[in-house]
Amino acid sequence: MQDFKQHAMLPATTHDEQARQDFVGAFRGHLSGRLMPGTYQVFASRVEPAFKAKHGRAPADQEEVRKVMTQDSFYQFWSAMQRRSQEMLWESVIDPTERQLPELIERARKLSRKNRGTLRLDPELEIPRYHRAADIHLQPGGYHTDFTADDVAAGVVYDKGINLYMGGALGAENDLTGNTLLAYLREKHPDFKPKRILDVGCAIGNSTLVWARAFPKAKVHGIDVGAPVLRYAHARAAALGVDVDFSQQNGEHTDFPDGAFDLVLSHITLHETSRSALPRILGECRRLLRPGGLMLHLEIPRGRTPMEKFMHNWEAYNNNETFARFMTDIDLVAESVKGGFAAADVQIDQFAPKLDVSQMNYTEHFFWKILAGWKR
Ligand SMILES: C[S@@+](CC[C@H](N)C(=O)[O-])C[C@H]1O[C@@H](n2cnc3c(N)ncnc32)[C@H](O)[C@@H]1O
Repeated sequence: MQDFKQHAMLPATTHDEQARQDFVGAFRGHLSGRLMPGTYQVFASRVEPAFKAKHGRAPADQEEVRKVMTQDSFYQFWSAMQRRSQEMLWESVIDPTERQLPELIERARKLSRKNRGTLRLDPELEIPRYHRAADIHLQPGGYHTDFTADDVAAGVVYDKGINLYMGGALGAENDLTGNTLLAYLREKHPDFKPKRILDVGCAIGNSTLVWARAFPKAKVHGIDVGAPVLRYAHARAAALGVDVDFSQQNGEHTDFPDGAFDLVLSHITLHETSRSALPRILGECRRLLRPGGLMLHLEIPRGRTPMEKFMHNWEAYNNNETFARFMTDIDLVAESVKGGFAAADVQIDQFAPKLDVSQMNYTEHFFWKILAGWKR
């Protein structure tokens, strides 16, 4: 596991703030590494046998598992602790951010002025209902709320927050998802050398920078609906010495011209949209691709057995990942066809990054689902 890189846009922590973050990290590691596997044990040893005794068969799907598992005292204990750890996670990163916010905003302004990449914000952009309705992952204000002028807080909090959320497994620059999708491209399309790249739902640019570094001659754009994460992304990219053009746009309908990109990407973004937005985003990706262009989306793993699916969907029911629940069952090829792709040009792959996740004991989480589409 690599240490998290302390770049210029991250706040300093006092001794007590650091101790609190360390505690949250260790607590979450304990919950996912030691307690969470126990939920599978209680399912196998007492919940499923009781279900079988009553019904003469195993639970048929995740909903049947849900009905019985949510009554189990061990599951209830783990679930309550997991939810509380998520709330503590944000509390532990919000305190140092709030304390240093004026300095962080000033630092972002200075870095942005030095930046060769651009930042284009649109105060008139309507934030989609799927972001306004609930704070995804319980992050107060979500990705889009400005609490003050030129705010960067949502980005600061998200950067350190996802590092703690994944127990450090996202890597020194939270770039595991970008590196995984890049590894997929290199394995499946080794000769594809994009010159114009778009990352949809780029948030703080943690995955976007991977592509800018991998293809230094390419023009790389990142779009997101959230202004504070984009201000942060722009300053963070400057702090890390990478040029990317960021703009505040909805991936359902952007202002880029037809055929503007060779490669359109997203990393763990689609499951945070909605049933109606999904085909619109896929359609927009198709419009933006030049003939022969490639679209790649990396999505969260959803589990294989009913019990695994139930556990994977804990986030949907308890961590405001509301749409993720439906992504489990959606036919992504059919959605791409609605977006204008030919079914034969769309492929769904499972792809596992090579990394050491032994500390998390949760390896099935790392078999990502990749949706690939070509515009021939
Ligand atoms: C989980 S974050 C993904 C962050 C980043 N791509 C990564 O690899 O870690 C999802 C991001 O998608 C953005 N998003 C969701 N719906 C969007 C849309 N319709 N258009 C543009 N961005 C969107 C959210 O604002 C959020 O920043």
